[in-house]
Amino acid sequence: MRIARSIPELRILLKTLKERSGRIGFVPTMGYLHEGHESLIRHCKTRCDSVVVSVFVNPTQFGAEEDFSRYPQDMERDQALCLNQEVTALFIPDLKEIYPTGFSTFIDPGPMGEVLCGKFRPGHFRGVTTVVGKLMNIVQPDLAFFGQKDLQQAAIIRRMVRDMNLPVELVVTPTIREADGLAISSRNAYLSAEDRQRALCISRALFAAEDAYRSGVRSACKLIDTARRLLTDLDELQYCELVDALTMDPIGGNVERLAGLCVAGMVRATRLIDNVLLSEASDPTNLLSLVGLPE
Ligand code: PAF
Repeated sequence: MRIARSIPELRILLKTLKERSGRIGFVPTMGYLHEGHESLIRHCKTRCDSVVVSVFVNPTQFGAEEDFSRYPQDMERDQALCLNQEVTALFIPDLKEIYPTGFSTFIDPGPMGEVLCGKFRPGHFRGVTTVVGKLMNIVQPDLAFFGQKDLQQAAIIRRMVRDMNLPVELVVTPTIREADGLAISSRNAYLSAEDRQRALCISRALFAAEDAYRSGVRSACKLIDTARRLLTDLDELQYCELVDALTMDPIGGNVERLAGLCVAGMVRATRLIDNVLLSEASDPTNLLSLVGLPE
């Protein structure tokens, strides 16, 4: 595995990779890698000849009161995991490499960035689209991989790729969960054993709504209500909403297209998000990917 810390270093490496092998896959991360990232890397390996992983804790996607300065990091463990997963190249830029002095150009995700998490984290998705846009320009991958757990992020990036004609195929992969249902996230590291137990109400609520959907319930109100009733262990429920999984538009009436039931809430100071897809398709996560290159 090659490690690049600067853009010129990475470009030299990528030039060789592009000359020698076929498809380049890209897994952008903020580090503190876990089974969710391992799954992204594994999916990437099945579709691509080379795998590029980036580790960069992106300051522009954190609000002033958020956890940027204490975001968990363990570069040694991240490197070992990537080595173990046979990652081809690991890109670890420092802050100045991505945001040089005077940096002032951002990508605005539009209204999709203002709903759900965007309401509670103003500016978050503008930071995400900006850094992902930059990373895609730097790496120029053929395919890029994102997790379904960040459903709104995946929708916004899919829209950005299409709107900006980025020559990349976007692949969304299923959420990885602990045996008890908790969606795996770097932020789970903040939870005490007791808080972790309380956090479980999120996946239980989502699974209850999913069961109701499977047993034939299609009313958005009923499905939301089924989940809400079980979200009582959270210190704060930020939202529990049923949305079109591709556009993030709220669904009223009945669920008739690919829907995401999305929850965000606080367990003490830890903000957790999760979602389930409601669809009659056997593998609904596949429907989130942007197949082929945007026109
Ligand atoms: O999902 C994440 O880890 C981040 O939002 C991403 C896509 C790496 C951008 O910083």
